Amino acid sequence: MKVAVIPGDGVGQEVIPAGIRVLSAVADLEYQEFPWGSRYFERTGEMMPKNGLDQLQGCDAIYLGAVGWPTVPDHVTLWGLLLPIRQAFQQYINLRPVNLLPGVSSPLRDRTPAEIDMLFIRENSEGEYSGTGGRVHRGTPQELAVEVPVFTRLAVERAARYALERAMERRRHLISVTKSNASRYAYVLWDEVVEGLAAAEFPEVRVERMHVDAMAARMVLRPQTIDVVLGSNLFADILTDLGAAIQGSLGLAASANLDPSRAHPSMFEPVHGSAPDIAGKGLANPLGAILTGALMLSHLGLREEAQRVERAVARVTGEGVALTADLGGSAGTAEVVDAVLAELRRPTAGTGH
Ligand code: NAI
Ligand code: MG
Repeated sequence: MKVAVIPGDGVGQEVIPAGIRVLSAVADLEYQEFPWGSRYFERTGEMMPKNGLDQLQGCDAIYLGAVGWPTVPDHVTLWGLLLPIRQAFQQYINLRPVNLLPGVSSPLRDRTPAEIDMLFIRENSEGEYSGTGGRVHRGTPQELAVEVPVFTRLAVERAARYALERAMERRRHLISVTKSNASRYAYVLWDEVVEGLAAAEFPEVRVERMHVDAMAARMVLRPQTIDVVLGSNLFADILTDLGAAIQGSLGLAASANLDPSRAHPSMFEPVHGSAPDIAGKGLANPLGAILTGALMLSHLGLREEAQRVERAVARVTGEGVALTADLGGSAGTAEVVDAVLAELRRPTAGTGH
C-alpha cells in the first residue's frame, strides 16, 4: 500500500518523519514524499503543482503534517492545498477522537482516562463552510456581506450514517449537535434526517439532540456521559478545539479526513498547525502525528497494528519519562519517538498487558 506524504510547513517537517519511524516498526507501507507547502509557494507561486491532485489520486492514503507559515496568508495556504484535497477527494467526514491518555493531566481536574473518551464526527463538505456568498458595495457605508450555510439531505445523511455506524462499535450513544431553536430551517432538517435514519436503520443506538452551547458546557462538566458526537462543519470545528484542550495538549490530538466510499484517498493529519514558535528546534510533540498514523493504519485495514501503536503511546505517557514541554516534560521529539519504539519492541507489546 502506498502513502503520499506531505510534511508541509514548520513542525510538520518534524512530526511526520517521527510518525513514519513509528509506523515503519509495525507495518510495511510504501511512502512517497511531496515537498508542497509554503516554501514551495515561495518558489513557484503555488502551494502544490496544478496536477497535484492527479499525483495523489493513485495512493491509498495521504499523511499530512500542517500547512501555514507567516510568509504566506493563511487563506492562501488553506485554499491552495488543504481544502482542494478535502473537496476533490470527497473527504466528507472529519473524524477526531478526544481521549485522555494515562499520565496526562487534563485541565478538568480529577478526570481519568475512562471518563474522557469521545469520538467527534464533523460534517466536512458543506454547512457553514460551503463558501456560498458574496460581498457588494465594498468600502461604502452600504457594504453588505452574505455567507450562506448550505445543508443537503444527502450530506447530512451520509455523515449521520457514518456516525451511527461508529456508535454501534462503541457505547451505542450518539449526540447530534445543532442549534435548532434559533435557526429554523437547516438545523431542523438536520435533526429530522439524523433521527429518521437512526429510527429506520440503527434502532439500538440511543440518539440525543443537543444545542451546541449546552454541549460546550457538558464537555467540561460531564465528559463521562459523551460517546460519539455528530456536528456540522462549524460546530464540530469549535467543539473539537475544546476537545483538544480537555485532552491536555493540542500536540496529542489526531484527525482524519475520510472518504468512506473509498473512491478517493483519505487524508490523515494531526489537529495542530505548523507551530512557527517552536519549529526547527526538535521540541514538537510527535504523539498527535503518531496517533494520526494509527488512524491511518486502521483505515487501511491494519487494525491490530494500529492498536499496537496506540497502546505503546499510552504506555509512554503513563510512564511520564519521555514527555515534551507541552505535557510538562523536557524531552525532545526524537526522545519521545525512541520511547515509543522501545515500547513496541518490548516482548509484552501488543498483548495489552
Ligand atoms: P498551532 O497549532 O501551529 O500552534 C498553537 C500552539 O500550540 C503554539 O504555541 C504551538 O507551539 C503549540 N503546538 C502546536 N503543535 C504542537 C506540537 N506538536 N507540540 C508542542 N506544541 C505544539 O496553531 P497556530 O499558531 O494558530 O497556527 C500556526 C500556523 O499553522 C498558521 O499558519 C495556521 O494557519 C497553520 N495551521 C494549519 C493547520 C493545518 O494544516 N491543518 C491547522 C492549524 C493551524
Ligand atoms: Mg479548527
